Amino acid sequence: MRERLCPDPALLARASPAPPASFVIFGAGGDLTRRLLMPALYNLSLGRLLVDGFTVIGVDHNERSDEAYRQGLTEAVQGYATDRSGEFSADSIDSHAWGWLRDRLFYLTGDFEDAATYRRLGERLAAAKQAGGHGNCVFYLATAPRFFGPIVEHLAKAGLMHEEQGDFRRAVIEKPFGTDLASARALNARILGLVDERQVFRIDHYLGKETVQNILALRFANGIFEPLWCRDHIDHVQITAAETVGVEGRGRFYETAGALRDMVPNHMMQLLTMTAMEPPNDFGADAVRAEKTKVVQAIWSPGPEELARDVVRGQYDAGRVRGTAVPGYRQEPNVAPDSGTETYIAMKLHIDNWRWAGVPFYVRTGKRLAVRRTEVAIQFKPAPYTMFRATPVECTTPNLMVLHIQPNEGISLSLSAKQPGPTLRLADVRMDFRYTDWFKAGPSTGYETLLYDVLIGDATLFKRAENVEASWAAVQPMLESPAEVEHYAAGSDGPAGAEALLARDGRHWLKLT
Ligand code: BG6
Repeated sequence: MRERLCPDPALLARASPAPPASFVIFGAGGDLTRRLLMPALYNLSLGRLLVDGFTVIGVDHNERSDEAYRQGLTEAVQGYATDRSGEFSADSIDSHAWGWLRDRLFYLTGDFEDAATYRRLGERLAAAKQAGGHGNCVFYLATAPRFFGPIVEHLAKAGLMHEEQGDFRRAVIEKPFGTDLASARALNARILGLVDERQVFRIDHYLGKETVQNILALRFANGIFEPLWCRDHIDHVQITAAETVGVEGRGRFYETAGALRDMVPNHMMQLLTMTAMEPPNDFGADAVRAEKTKVVQAIWSPGPEELARDVVRGQYDAGRVRGTAVPGYRQEPNVAPDSGTETYIAMKLHIDNWRWAGVPFYVRTGKRLAVRRTEVAIQFKPAPYTMFRATPVECTTPNLMVLHIQPNEGISLSLSAKQPGPTLRLADVRMDFRYTDWFKAGPSTGYETLLYDVLIGDATLFKRAENVEASWAAVQPMLESPAEVEHYAAGSDGPAGAEALLARDGRHWLKLT
């Protein structure tokens, strides 16, 4: 979780500035606004991607003046320059870029479920239109999920989603979008009964990560990989999102979510779809999203027998993570002492289509594991014939390609090579591409790209209604018949059952340490 604010504004500056807009944040006093949205807007300001007519209106229920709001966010953003223990850090804050944004921050006190809030917001937006000459608006729902439906409803009723004279009105909706298939469908139906799909931007911050987007570039901008990217050459795929953090004070939310809901239908599915989707006809939002939906819909729905065999749920006990003693999940604040919520989940998925039939996709994610690492590992099939029988070579190792999503973003490919010397001995060697070796920009928060895309109206990296529903449908059987929770020590590689899941197939997970 230690990332930096994007250090290379020059890279961002290669894009054209976004059109002017009022950026309305519901949940303006919340954690997401402080930790992610403001740093990302600051980076966009630093990259000169925001123009003079851009303003932020923060909406929340606490009484605050504009000045107090500005001051609070200034302290938060400046904190990243000095506090290296936080989630984000920056070498320094550019006072001009922050000052520019600070002067454009406004605050509106209001209850999200009170029509008066939207009346007052409408007045502000009308005044902004008169002053700035545009009526463009982005409504960012950085709130608890129970407000998503009501906020869109109030916005629509107050006429604030109505687009006229070429102005745009867009709503950005955070995760979790629903808690299962039925609730996701109901939320989609409620929202789409009021506004057009093209006005809705369902966000998944994994899609803002450079390395996640790079999966498509790797696959479709290089001629050499795609012919190998199928059941004929790939033995299996492992997708891992391992975290060292625990529930970080989010016990109340996490008790109702667990690792499955929190990570799988969203982030893990995005990694899977980027890896497994068919090439879209073009890179337009509709073509890309249609292919993504198709691959998720092809995930085979497991029956009771497969569920019991192919899904492993785990929960961390006390242990040591990177040398520091940490409590078990059941000892975390707001967690039941006998909680059965999983903090780890591993599963074997099958994609029933021509390309992937017979190739298992093993997916695992968990908290309080040995290391923080997100990656997609493509294990190729071994060479078809060993011609080294009359030599000291006992066996050859199949090639492994790892797409390193975070940290140490890059791609590596392991190969067998002859060791120098008079006899024929093979060694495993690795070809490495690291983002930081080639490109100046370090990882950003991921939100910069996504916020910029909302402003320019590019929905490629956002989920359409059917993407979200297909992902929930894929995990619905696991939600309905949860496996028993196995315990694992914090700081380990996860529960023993996860290892057994692959061992039964004669395979093993890549070690985390
Ligand atoms: C969030 C989850 O969506 O993603 C968190 O709610 C998780 O529980 C986080 O820690 C992981 O994101 P990242 O970018 O750190 O991999």
